[in-house]
Amino acid sequence: MLSSPVRTAAFAAEAVKPSRVVGTLMDDARAGLLHAPRELPPKYFYDAHGSSLFEAICLTAEYYPTRAERALIAHHAHELIGVARPLSIIEFGSGVAGKIGPLFKACEAHALPASYYPFDVCEAVLVATGELLHEQFPGLVVRPLLGDFTAGLANLPRIQGRKLLMFLGGTLGNFDQPAAIDLLAEMREVMRPGDFLLLGADRIKDPQILHAAYNDAAGLTAQFNLNLLSVLNAGLGADFVAANFAHRAFYNAAAQRIEMHLESRVAQRVTLPALGESVSFAAGETIRTEISRKFSTASLSALLAAAGLRVDRHVSGVDEAFSLVLARRDDA
Ligand code: SAH
Ligand code: AVI
Repeated sequence: MLSSPVRTAAFAAEAVKPSRVVGTLMDDARAGLLHAPRELPPKYFYDAHGSSLFEAICLTAEYYPTRAERALIAHHAHELIGVARPLSIIEFGSGVAGKIGPLFKACEAHALPASYYPFDVCEAVLVATGELLHEQFPGLVVRPLLGDFTAGLANLPRIQGRKLLMFLGGTLGNFDQPAAIDLLAEMREVMRPGDFLLLGADRIKDPQILHAAYNDAAGLTAQFNLNLLSVLNAGLGADFVAANFAHRAFYNAAAQRIEMHLESRVAQRVTLPALGESVSFAAGETIRTEISRKFSTASLSALLAAAGLRVDRHVSGVDEAFSLVLARRDDA
């Protein structure tokens, strides 16, 4: 994470200081790579190249979540903004904010001069977002926030007036149940009575559709997964060879989640100089790089309830491919 001030460009991002200690790449690699089962947090996918690969994935025929959520937002923006009536919109893991234009248009239609705070761990994506939104909505005040939303939210800027928090794209699904509850509960702490959270979550569906979405024919998801090895090489001086690993993504029906792994194609040893360690992989051994949980209406409501949030509106379209939930504090 960069320290403040981040850059002097037109779309300088404000750094959000962690409000509790979270692992560095070194810590997470030490904890997650040295012993099986090996796994890493998904935030490391998103260097500038990883973020652009993610954008490309969103355009593939197989990766339906972006299109499904975009359609729901376009269709329900006026109603949702009419309920939430935000003066500020804070989006966690905003990416390039490519599908939320209808929400800003709805703010205009409801005469709400909302400011937008995209919060992301990837600076390149924040700069791109600022530039794109400035072109599309010249009057919109955009205040990019650079940081790790798993590092606590206590240092978010103090914002007066009604807020709409947003956590879209199904990114909550990249966290297991305890971590997802903690994250939502921290978002709840940021909310005052009258504030809302708009949450996007992917739905349980035909496993073949799920499998295809994470195994696109063009191989972009494979590149996205394998790019993690470049992040490890750059950050730890490691010597992972991408050609020695294979992308594996499959639906784990019992756990209702996609799992993404990097599978060692051969028996090999990789050195991690920053840790003063090396790791031996047997052929077929994997690093779990991501989980992507899929929800039912019931499991989504239960998750929100466990975090102290109550569903106000839930839309999922005729095919129920994806859910958008507008929630408020259960004491509001
Ligand atoms: N909301 C967008 C992007 C989803 S991709 C969409 O719906 O398409 C996930 C985004 O979350 C990426 O932009 C990534 O950089 C960001 N992200 C992942 N982990 C993060 C973390 N711990 N803190 C802040 N941002 C994170
Ligand atoms: C950001 N997140 C919700 C995506 C997902 O579907 O879990 C990341 C992704 N991984 C592979 N393709 C897309």
